[in-house]
Amino acid sequence: MKKHNFSAGPCVLPKSVIEQAAAAVLNFDDGLSLLEISHRSKPFVDVMENARSLALELLGLEGKGYKALFLQGGASTQFLMVALNLLEKRAGYLNSGTWADKSIKEAKIYDDIYEVGSSKSANYNYIPKGYDIPEDYDYFHCTSNNTIFGTQMKSFPNSPVPLVCDMSSDIFSRQLDFSKFDLIYAGAQKNMGPAGTTLVVIKEDILGKVSRKIPSMMDYKIHISKGSMFNTPPVFAVYTSMLTLEWLKNLGGIKAIEELNEKKARLMYSEIDLNPLFKGYAVKEDRSMMNATFTLENENLKETFEAMIKEAGINGINGHRSVGGYRASMYNALSLDSVKALVEVMSELESKA
Ligand SMILES: Cc1ncc(COP(=O)(O)O)c(C=O)c1O
Repeated sequence: MKKHNFSAGPCVLPKSVIEQAAAAVLNFDDGLSLLEISHRSKPFVDVMENARSLALELLGLEGKGYKALFLQGGASTQFLMVALNLLEKRAGYLNSGTWADKSIKEAKIYDDIYEVGSSKSANYNYIPKGYDIPEDYDYFHCTSNNTIFGTQMKSFPNSPVPLVCDMSSDIFSRQLDFSKFDLIYAGAQKNMGPAGTTLVVIKEDILGKVSRKIPSMMDYKIHISKGSMFNTPPVFAVYTSMLTLEWLKNLGGIKAIEELNEKKARLMYSEIDLNPLFKGYAVKEDRSMMNATFTLENENLKETFEAMIKEAGINGINGHRSVGGYRASMYNALSLDSVKALVEVMSELESKA
């Protein structure tokens, strides 16, 4: 039976990508598996270079002073790498969710952090707005999409200081002026590939301005100078990410996927709003196109709803423990048909209730 995979990440990937990745595990180059070739061999060096340039091409950042890296340690390692590489005296952070909160905690180890805005007291059901970013800060950090709470930044500040953004859960999903950002990072395991690698896109001229010594593995400049091959890269995750980026390019790039993502989100949220059994969690103006969070108002229907979900082959819609209810993650590779399947179950529940 076809599964409709609404997991928050790791999550659904394009079928053709999984098939190509599986084939490469069996035979990547002349009878050798992708898992047993040297990362210094020409075929893999080509993969890394292709993945790096595809990322910049899709974001419209080629030839604009940016470098793309595929690193390890997840987006969580970026929380501290950003601070180690950019934080000299003080930085501003927008506290819009659990991951933003964690990035603040890590950066505080190194220096002073100012929360320019926070929605923590409302359990992050909205995006803080109307804040100022002082000109003497080292950088400003925000999270474009709050995976757990289902909120998404619809606009970004004209920051007077380098703009750093955790785009783990919505990179490559919508058109933005990416040149506004000086550093973007994103764990691969939502819109880009399997877990195991993190894309970092940096405008090179923001580096080299802190006085501290940076351990080599934490130093963006070293990773750039080594072509993202300072140490052994996660070959499978990078290869599969490259395949996903190729898939996206062939589909028509971010513009094409944005149209599909908008359709999916419209369908999902109209059911949440029109069906009296359900209630959206995030405030409407900040709703995420990637993660729709909602609750079932009548707890007595929970068992029936969950049995129907299972019967329809729907997977991964349980909400995060800090929000409860449900979360439908609609990343790039999720089809409109999967959203239709979920919406059908929701409206069938209404007719039964
Ligand atoms: C927005 C965001 N930032 C950071 C992370 C942490 O990523 P990782 O598990 O790759 O460290 C996640 C994980 O879901 C996330 O959604």
